[in-house]
Amino acid sequence: MSELPAPETAVQGSSPPGTPGHDLTSTTSEAICLEKAAVTYHSSRTGDVTTALAETDVTFEAGSFTALLGPTGCGKTTLLNAVAGFVELSSGQIRIGQRRVVGPGPDRAVVLQQYALMPWMTASANVEMALERFHLHRSERAERARRALESVGLKDAARKYPAEMSGGMQQRVALARAMAAEPSALLMDEPFGALDAITRIAMQRLLMTLWEHTSTTVVFVTHDVNEALDLAERILLMAPGPGRIVADLDLRSTSIRSDAVERDKLYQQILGYLLPG
Ligand SMILES: Nc1ncnc2c1ncn2[C@@H]1O[C@H](COP(=O)(O)OP(=O)(O)OP(=O)(O)O)[C@@H](O)[C@H]1O
Ligand SMILES: [Mg+2]
Repeated sequence: MSELPAPETAVQGSSPPGTPGHDLTSTTSEAICLEKAAVTYHSSRTGDVTTALAETDVTFEAGSFTALLGPTGCGKTTLLNAVAGFVELSSGQIRIGQRRVVGPGPDRAVVLQQYALMPWMTASANVEMALERFHLHRSERAERARRALESVGLKDAARKYPAEMSGGMQQRVALARAMAAEPSALLMDEPFGALDAITRIAMQRLLMTLWEHTSTTVVFVTHDVNEALDLAERILLMAPGPGRIVADLDLRSTSIRSDAVERDKLYQQILGYLLPG
């Protein structure tokens, strides 16, 4: 069981868990490396300066599944958006494999709580959109979209429009769209937060299956302790003011998935950490 370090003796700059024996490495999977990465927002309206992410050194190993867990305003979305290339760093750098992040790129797929599907396009067309950069023949693109939709259990919904699908189905399409282009990193920001409890569990299982069958490096933002414990092999706990990583939990050698007592102990430790005092 991972013991939590004392608050404020943070693990900024600590080494990530090693990955010997990791069974999800392949040539398409790449590590994400933040080197002294920081994000500051300046509000021209109020003049406020917010350090959304304090200087951060962290590596997400190729093929790993990491949850970013913490209360509102601790910089989870900021960190994810910086990796996605949506937010500019105020200092430091982020590398995907050997490439420096300078903006969004097809090597990183993003899945948000809002499905962000094009309402005027069918499920298939929404997925095909992600394949445009490959300049495939139309039939090949349609076939790839069909396979992606099949992999998320939507074989028969290819011709449906978003308005004709449930929230769970729409999020499956969003996941199919993200995975169709075989990204080396899948960046997810509370992707299942809007779903009902049952659909959410189904989506979590689907995500685990997809992850186990690909080599994608997953970074998964949540403020749900149970979701982080259910899915991730590593949890980075974050705290606000300024946004920062305050603990780094490697769960791979724990028995929390089979030992309820062990899991509850870790759950309570995490809560104690997130709710000090
Ligand atoms: N565009 C922006 N301009 C100014 N401040 C911002 C901006 N985006 C975020 N912030 C601030 O940066 C801090 C971190 O925000 P961020 O959205 O990364 O937190 P979060 O952990 O994702 O929160 P939540 O769980 O509510 O989604 C907060 O104080 C927030 O108010
Ligand atoms: Mg957020």
